[in-house]
Amino acid sequence: MYLTREEERMLSGELGELYSKALRVLVKLGEALGAEKLVKVSWAHVSGISYTTIGDAGLELMEEFSNVRTLTKSTCNPAGIDVDKWMILGVREDYYMKQMRILRSLTKMGVETTLTCTPYLLYTPKTGEHIAWGESSAVLFANSVYSARSNREGGPSSLFSAITGRTPYYGLHIDDNRTPTAKVVVDCRVDDPSDIGVLGYLIGEVLGSGVPLIENLPLVSVDALKLFCAGMGCSSSIGLTLIKGVTPEARRMADVESYDEKIVVTNEDIKEVYERLSDCILDNEEFSIFLGCPHLSMSEAWNLINRALSYKPLHKVYLAVEPETYKSLKERNLVEKLLERNVVLLNGTCLVVSPLKDMNTTSLVTDSAKAAHYIRSLHKIPVTLAKRSDCIKLAFKGG
Ligand code: F3S
Repeated sequence: MYLTREEERMLSGELGELYSKALRVLVKLGEALGAEKLVKVSWAHVSGISYTTIGDAGLELMEEFSNVRTLTKSTCNPAGIDVDKWMILGVREDYYMKQMRILRSLTKMGVETTLTCTPYLLYTPKTGEHIAWGESSAVLFANSVYSARSNREGGPSSLFSAITGRTPYYGLHIDDNRTPTAKVVVDCRVDDPSDIGVLGYLIGEVLGSGVPLIENLPLVSVDALKLFCAGMGCSSSIGLTLIKGVTPEARRMADVESYDEKIVVTNEDIKEVYERLSDCILDNEEFSIFLGCPHLSMSEAWNLINRALSYKPLHKVYLAVEPETYKSLKERNLVEKLLERNVVLLNGTCLVVSPLKDMNTTSLVTDSAKAAHYIRSLHKIPVTLAKRSDCIKLAFKGG
């Protein structure tokens, strides 16, 4: 692999053994994937920082690298717990201590502890900007909505990109790999935010990989696109989808007509996914409701909070938001007010990456295809996937 003089020096250990080690991993990874060189990245988003998902091995890795400073702007994914309310949520102290060690290591390295899977709501990536992001939903969003350039990085590779400011130049960093491989015609109604998450999940499931070009996608608000990208990211290895009317690059794809595959999505297909991602738990009074996968935007949070304050809560409700949104709601004394109504505002975490058993959560209803998929597979508890409007009706009497 071609390396610049600066990279050669980093690799030889001139900046210290840890930089050399991090770069060595990226070079090996790049060579295995056919990359001819590395590319500088202006932003790394580090995934895999929840103690639930990385365990002691991940914690040791973070602490090992805590004495270096990142060479590029770096943000990170949600933690495994709400560091504000872990105790009242029933999380064990040893878990809390270990999660805090991970967060302290990241802070020492210079990673902003943004603790969110929606970093694009904090800062906007630019068209053509090379970035190295973990978190599949965020990568899809950055590539597909802003035409930034990122592959789907894993936890360690996104961390090493943060440290070295580099990533292997292959895959979605190269224009030729960003042309459509399949055409998707949306021929179904998507009149609830969760429908669009299911649509993304379904397209991902059918295609598995490649670059789908989507036609007729309705409901193209940022909040809807968040759910769409999260659904697609969790059921496939897709890192970019070209959405007509949304993706800047999709404009010049208008005339391309030869695709390996063409699929049409209908109402029946959508209904089938809801059924498949649902267990029968609605007769059981014990379920809780989880909204905020990916993290709720401020306007989504306000909408739900207004309902929570206006109607009688019927079930425990978890609303997940990123720390800046949380801080602003906390300053208005809403965290306590909501808790009194059995509504938990989760700060910088989500139920997928949390120790659910400790938190006494035994069954959940959610509006997110991604959350339904992972909570069932990772936590082995029953889940029902429902439209957001139905989640609200279940959560609040008269809602
Ligand atoms: Fe975000 Fe957790 Fe969902 S990290 S995308 S809220 S699984």
